[in-house]
Amino acid sequence: MYSFVRPLLFSLDPERAHDLALSQLDKLHSLGLTRLVAPAVKPCKVKLWNIEFANPVGMAAGLDKDGTHIDALGALGFGFLEIGTTTPKPQEGNPKPRLFRLKQHAAIINRMGFNNLGVNALLQNVDRSRYKGVLGINIGKNKDTPNEKAFDDYRYCLERVYPAAHYVTVNISSPNTQGLRELQNADELHRLLSRLRDTQEKLSAQHRKHTPVLVKIAPDLSDSQLESMAMILAASRVDGVIATNTTVDRLPVQGHIHAKEAGGLSGKPLYGRSTQVLRHLRANLPSTIPVIGVGGIHSGADAVGKIAAGAALVQLYTGFIYHGAPLIRDCVEAIRRRREMASPRSS
Ligand SMILES: Cc1cc2nc3c(=O)[nH]c(=O)nc-3n(C[C@H](O)[C@H](O)[C@H](O)COP(=O)(O)O)c2cc1C
Repeated sequence: MYSFVRPLLFSLDPERAHDLALSQLDKLHSLGLTRLVAPAVKPCKVKLWNIEFANPVGMAAGLDKDGTHIDALGALGFGFLEIGTTTPKPQEGNPKPRLFRLKQHAAIINRMGFNNLGVNALLQNVDRSRYKGVLGINIGKNKDTPNEKAFDDYRYCLERVYPAAHYVTVNISSPNTQGLRELQNADELHRLLSRLRDTQEKLSAQHRKHTPVLVKIAPDLSDSQLESMAMILAASRVDGVIATNTTVDRLPVQGHIHAKEAGGLSGKPLYGRSTQVLRHLRANLPSTIPVIGVGGIHSGADAVGKIAAGAALVQLYTGFIYHGAPLIRDCVEAIRRRREMASPRSS
């Protein structure tokens, strides 16, 4: 079905196509017709942080920034959804156009800039939803908050979303908020994460619930930067890491008419680099800190490649835009086959 719909969607401006596809998905879902676009996905359970995931293939952040489409997206077969990035106050994001398709590369460049309705609106949407699966909430800082005050924004969002989320992701890796990625520098990262850890401990006592806090990192870091980052992540006792966000590198798409658009590149050209980052981080982190692999997954084999590089779970964004919901099933099935080959008797 998606192969019929895609040419129509791809003939539209990318942001309009995104909004239209999600509103049509909501309609299909309310009519009980999700199966027309999404094949059934058999369970392939994973338990992590004491949370049971129906399968290890999740939706990456940015697709449903305000949690406006949770029920429809949750019915497609994802093992978990990550909504956001959300910020304390609503903000419009960057001027349009800010989303570009690079079809021949199966890629996207975006400079959305955390357009969102604010964390309170997101929480109202979460409250209204009937989704029973695992829900991650990705938090960020407002554009007009200087980095010296970034902690205040992250703390505000963490406090607000803590009881509603299965896990919270601290996004310090979007290339579309000026200066944000500087929070990945050793000193700033250490300061931010240790203060967030204190906040998490207070919230854990207050709500009698431990909500894991994950950190999402950029693919544009050298091996030595990753090594010092791994030490800080371990010392700050983060619960997990998401590798990776989009890249500012344009080498893989050089010559394309959109190659020089500012923003982050995602999709197929990101696969190699984001998987290397995942592998290097995995090798340098204690085994108690799981890593979620995201970046350039367009097939079941790609998802298996992330698992082989050390990912405990994977997420999709651009591949889902290009291939639709059947990609979720393909990834789950490929991971299941790998599992069965590794331990035939447990299947
Ligand atoms: C249009 C668009 C918007 C995104 N917005 C966010 C966001 O708000 N927060 C975030 O952490 N990642 C965001 N991302 C990054 C994705 O979650 C993902 O990390 C990245 O695209 C790499 O995965 P992919 O190659 O499967 O797309 C966005 C990606 C795209 C394409």
